Amino acid sequence: MEEKLITVTSPLMPSLDELNVYLQDIWKRKWITNNGHYHQELEKALCEYLGVPFISLFTNGTLPLITALQAMRITGEVITTPFSFVATTHSLWWNGIKPVFVDIDPVTCNLDPDKVEAAITPRTTAIMPVHVYGYPCDTKRIQEIADKYGLKVIYDAAHAFGVKVNGESILNAGDMSTLSFHATKVYNTVEGGALVMHDEQTKKRIDYLKNFGFAGETTVVAPGINSKMDEVRAAYGLINLKQVDKAIAARHHVADAYRKALKDVSGIRFLEDVPGVRHNYAYFPIFVDAEQYGMTRDELYFKMKEHRILGRRYFYPLISTFSTYRGLESATPDNLPVATKVAEQVICLPMYYGLTDADVERIIKLIVK
Ligand SMILES: Cc1ncc(COP(=O)(O)O)c(C=O)c1O
Repeated sequence: MEEKLITVTSPLMPSLDELNVYLQDIWKRKWITNNGHYHQELEKALCEYLGVPFISLFTNGTLPLITALQAMRITGEVITTPFSFVATTHSLWWNGIKPVFVDIDPVTCNLDPDKVEAAITPRTTAIMPVHVYGYPCDTKRIQEIADKYGLKVIYDAAHAFGVKVNGESILNAGDMSTLSFHATKVYNTVEGGALVMHDEQTKKRIDYLKNFGFAGETTVVAPGINSKMDEVRAAYGLINLKQVDKAIAARHHVADAYRKALKDVSGIRFLEDVPGVRHNYAYFPIFVDAEQYGMTRDELYFKMKEHRILGRRYFYPLISTFSTYRGLESATPDNLPVATKVAEQVICLPMYYGLTDADVERIIKLIVK
């Protein structure tokens, strides 16, 4: 008999019965988008859950990046990481901004603050780091550099839902942070996303920008986009929020099992929990040292596939190697040696609420030779 397929992720979904109750109410209200009842409820609930002062919901996690840059009128050059999902850099492209790639730290896989200053030019206006895999960037160092040079900081926090450092939400760092609520994320609204900001005035502006720039019935203040979350997804999100802690706890259990089993496997490295950080266990990346492990990353990846276990080479290839960006001076492997190496070593192992102990055992067995 063919073995069960283990996917790399699986969405956290609300019960249909519960969703139905909300749907019946939406059908009664007949207000299905444009800052509806559930949209407002979800914004309130997320502020509370995440510990942030203001949030604006979006239809995905890409448009808040694009909109944050537009709202802050960022131009020229922006320093960013090549080790992310391509949407991070695309958001710069959509604003006519030149990305400047800076290498990552080998331990955290986040933008290396030691290398940021050397990349600053008179055209630099902002830094766009990513809390990759939900691991916090060195926000203190990044802010110090930003303050010294008068730069804005926009965090792509797509992976960092619910992550806290010493009890404080990581989403409060920098000028703004963005979230993705895509189906693959720790918390999802099918598709969805949000922008977190510090003050009411900025929220107002963002709310205009995600609604074509409308600031009233007849006033358009800027060329905004349409990225309003509808009521169905907001309701789905409200229900999912009630079970996200349970999902994070289950992911934690899986991470513990992986770590226990892999800690003595020569040539396999993984990320440890950071003291003081409330992690969300969004991903479980392992890094394969081919020489020590006796097998390359790709050999292991395809072996897993053969055994119906789907990992993901997340993030490979590096954004800087895609045709749109590879002509940039900062995109060379010489400038990005750590990111280049990490991208060649990484596999994200299956990680989701609902992954069973038996599934985890099967995955481990295959990796521990
Ligand atoms: C780091 C990062 N930034 C941005 C995005 C874009 O989010 P979305 O797919 O919701 O547009 C993603 C996700 O998929 C991501 O992983």
